[in-house]
Amino acid sequence: MMDRRTVLGVMAGAAASSLMVNSGLARQGGNALPVTIAIDEAIGTIKPELYSQFAEHIGGVIYDGIWVGPDSKIPNVRGVRKDIIDHVKRIGKVVVRWPGGCFADAYHWRDGIGPVAKRPKRYGRWQEDIEPNTFGTHEFLDFCKLCEVTPYLAANVGTGTPQEFQNWVEYCNAPDGRTTLAEERAINGSPEPFGVRYWGVGNESWGCGGKFTPEDYCREYRKFTEWVPAFGVPLYLIAAGPNSNDLDWTRRFFQKWVDGARAPISGWAPHYYCGTTGHALKFSTDQWYEMFKKALVMEKLITDQWAVIGEFDRQHKIKFIIDEWGAWHPAGTEINKHHLFEQMGCLRDALVAALSLDIFNRHAEKIDMANVAQLVNNLHSLFLADGDKFVATPTFHVFEMYKAHHGGKSLRIDAEAPAVSFKDGTIPRLAGAASIKGKTLTISLVNTHATEPAEVDLRLKGTKGTCVAHRVLTDTNLAAHNTFERPDAIKPRDEQVTSGDLRRVLPPASVNVITVTLA
Ligand code: AHR
Repeated sequence: MMDRRTVLGVMAGAAASSLMVNSGLARQGGNALPVTIAIDEAIGTIKPELYSQFAEHIGGVIYDGIWVGPDSKIPNVRGVRKDIIDHVKRIGKVVVRWPGGCFADAYHWRDGIGPVAKRPKRYGRWQEDIEPNTFGTHEFLDFCKLCEVTPYLAANVGTGTPQEFQNWVEYCNAPDGRTTLAEERAINGSPEPFGVRYWGVGNESWGCGGKFTPEDYCREYRKFTEWVPAFGVPLYLIAAGPNSNDLDWTRRFFQKWVDGARAPISGWAPHYYCGTTGHALKFSTDQWYEMFKKALVMEKLITDQWAVIGEFDRQHKIKFIIDEWGAWHPAGTEINKHHLFEQMGCLRDALVAALSLDIFNRHAEKIDMANVAQLVNNLHSLFLADGDKFVATPTFHVFEMYKAHHGGKSLRIDAEAPAVSFKDGTIPRLAGAASIKGKTLTISLVNTHATEPAEVDLRLKGTKGTCVAHRVLTDTNLAAHNTFERPDAIKPRDEQVTSGDLRRVLPPASVNVITVTLA
């Protein structure tokens, strides 16, 4: 269903995001939907970190998903599943956050160093799992090295101490021989400092991270971030932000922050999950649209939170680290009953990923990092693994397709398209982002309509260009997904671009990445 109402996209001004949604007609032939890209209106650089990942000690993420052990028959490099290494490399120079999540606030890093046989087994943070501590700091940092990604360590505020946090920083970053902790690191196999830059100080401190009030968390944050040893590494300290768009949490935290000494904060970390009431794979068309309506709330979260932070940090030195986001479906599609929160990701999740990444792209100047939850065997995962089986989900394909945006300058983009109406209101028919690198323009566009294609007319404000590639991820089955038996059931394909024409047809229910070479 479509209506013809005119809905204005977010327009000009310093905080402008560029998008979408006026009225128009989506039909092939005559009236293509105009999509205008302002080549000279750059918003900010799209950092590869916007495409980052999250790996927690929970269910099957670490044990099975990432770590199979060096003695396993499953192909591995120093214990890390080889399939994971090969695939993570394909999404680019991203960051991986570890060890949680809620797990981080019950994790003591010393449990995970030294000879594996001597490491303690602990009561797990989740369900009745026992944490063997086989995968600790050295194994995680080796995983990052193998995958060519950057580590982000999340420190324990809930049950840890400032001293424990500061010692972890020293253990990771002090030069060999400088301190006793550095010597211990060398004995454990790594004389070279790890040089870890990203440090989270607590997770969901309003909830599983200690149920703090914003004021109490601010007080803790100050204690944790005073006396952090830098050892020449410019540390990027991340404060736990609100649950979804809780403006009261943010305002109260920052009110307390400015009332006293302003502890160093580089990143503010809100979490936002878009949940469904239905099933990961069995859903109605209304539930298809409902999911996107929820995913698009991310944009309001970013603009609202940004405005509140700006009341206290007028120059906006603090950026967003949206270190947990994604679709969260009820249980029922786990491939292994030990994989807590695992869900089967389908085409609908791929569109949620594309809509979210495009929001991040459009707000590139405000965001330093965003981490989908979670890399493997969990919520909105890129991969599923069980024993010797491994498969990439449709969401992985979106991350790989969107790699073209990494390092580009995000440009203002406006699309005119009719909204799609459904049981709970309307959603934009088209959403997307554009970025430029030299003479190459990358345009990502999502056609949310479940059944109708959309012809778009790409208009380049201020220049001319030729379409050289159009890659699309779609399927006639809205719940299309990949399984161990059919790993390529849904994968991207290249559309023909023979004439270089800037009119493109976006199939229904599709994620598109269009490449244009500028004159
Ligand atoms: O991603 C799963 C859990 O969701 C994380 O541990 C927690 O931070 C969030 O509530």
